[in-house]
Amino acid sequence: MLNVNLNHLVDKVDFKSYECKVKSIHQGIHKKSMVGNDFLGWLDYPKTYDKEELSLMLKKAKYVRDNFETLVVCGIGGSYLGALASINALRGIYHNDKLEIIFLGNTFSPTYIAQVLKCLEHKKFAINVISKSGTTTETSISFRLLKQLLIKKVGKKNASKMIFATTDKKNGALKQESIKEGYTTFTLPSDIGGRYSVLSPVGLFPIACAGIDIKKMLEGAKKAMEEFNNPDLKKNKCYRYAVVRDYMYRHKKSSEMFVTYEPHLKEIAEWLKQLFGESEGKEHKGLLPTSATFSTDLHSLGQFIQDGSPVLFETLLFIKKPMLDVVIPTDKEDLDGLNYIKGKKLSYVNEKAYLGTLEAHQKDGKVNNVVLELDELTPYSLGYLFYFFMKVCAMSAYLLKVNPFNQPGVEIYKKNMFHLLGKKGY
Ligand code: PA5
Repeated sequence: MLNVNLNHLVDKVDFKSYECKVKSIHQGIHKKSMVGNDFLGWLDYPKTYDKEELSLMLKKAKYVRDNFETLVVCGIGGSYLGALASINALRGIYHNDKLEIIFLGNTFSPTYIAQVLKCLEHKKFAINVISKSGTTTETSISFRLLKQLLIKKVGKKNASKMIFATTDKKNGALKQESIKEGYTTFTLPSDIGGRYSVLSPVGLFPIACAGIDIKKMLEGAKKAMEEFNNPDLKKNKCYRYAVVRDYMYRHKKSSEMFVTYEPHLKEIAEWLKQLFGESEGKEHKGLLPTSATFSTDLHSLGQFIQDGSPVLFETLLFIKKPMLDVVIPTDKEDLDGLNYIKGKKLSYVNEKAYLGTLEAHQKDGKVNNVVLELDELTPYSLGYLFYFFMKVCAMSAYLLKVNPFNQPGVEIYKKNMFHLLGKKGY
């Protein structure tokens, strides 16, 4: 299903020298004996997830789909990127699904928040507030505003039935409020961190509300879980890619550029940037994750990639069979000179752009390329892909000798901001 093609690397990666290290990290991950081991809940989750909770999510998702025109997903970082990535990837940007999904709680932008609130004034909307800690300021402010708008529209009692909270099982302000107000709650297990939570209720509930088959996503993830449970570097393509990343980092590459070939896959790259950036960027180490959408960005960043400082390598995700296709029509006059491709599908053109670019970057530009080819993007293959990347990330962060599951650097801006805002204790 997923072809990890390493034939487009320019440098020769010395896989042999990694075999022992990879085996020992694999054992450390699976025996949960390494630093960060209390955040490995995602590892078996596709098998161990709470089946009753899944049924409840499906029931409530149907309720949302049948009764509302809009769902507002209120969360930031790992509490929204996976859902946004999945929903866009599997529905497209201009879809005709009956439920609109809006994301809030991921910014302090007064303009964005004011516009969203304005547009919700005349909509029948439900809220899914997502926060593991239950105290994230961006999310809390937006949730307060959303809640007040909803209460104004439907009254407090009804509003409580229209709010779904995804949070920690026991702790945090959101959990306490949910108990007090009687919101339906879904649990983010305490041993799963935000950026590893897309296949938990954090991602799965909004994705189910979008009409996407979340059972299939979990099945795909389970397939990946079984497939990548092999310590042998020769056979485990997930670990081979992790080793390439480590090798690139140790051989003067400072950035990994995630490339997709369709705009509705852009948020998969955003999810990847968070996953790798927050997991690896610490102790003054790590690759800077960047992203581009081709061919669009070939007309902006393309020049740099081809010819600029040789600081990056590319990891490109190419989906062979697009969700939709378009045929290029014939034009009798051919003033635009396009008749040489008349009758061809856009998928054909996009593929040639991909192959032409790959050759240009690899051969002429001497840019290393990791090519991830997926036959088709479905809930099953997306679940598989998410799991693949999470395991890659754990392995390569451990190769880098950092804890993949903490994010101490994120706290510093918060402290300063709280101090400037005059929050007690800062
Ligand atoms: O990956 C992470 O842990 C973070 O990006 C969090 O998801 C993000 O900060 C949001 O935190 P919370 O869910 O506690 O509101």
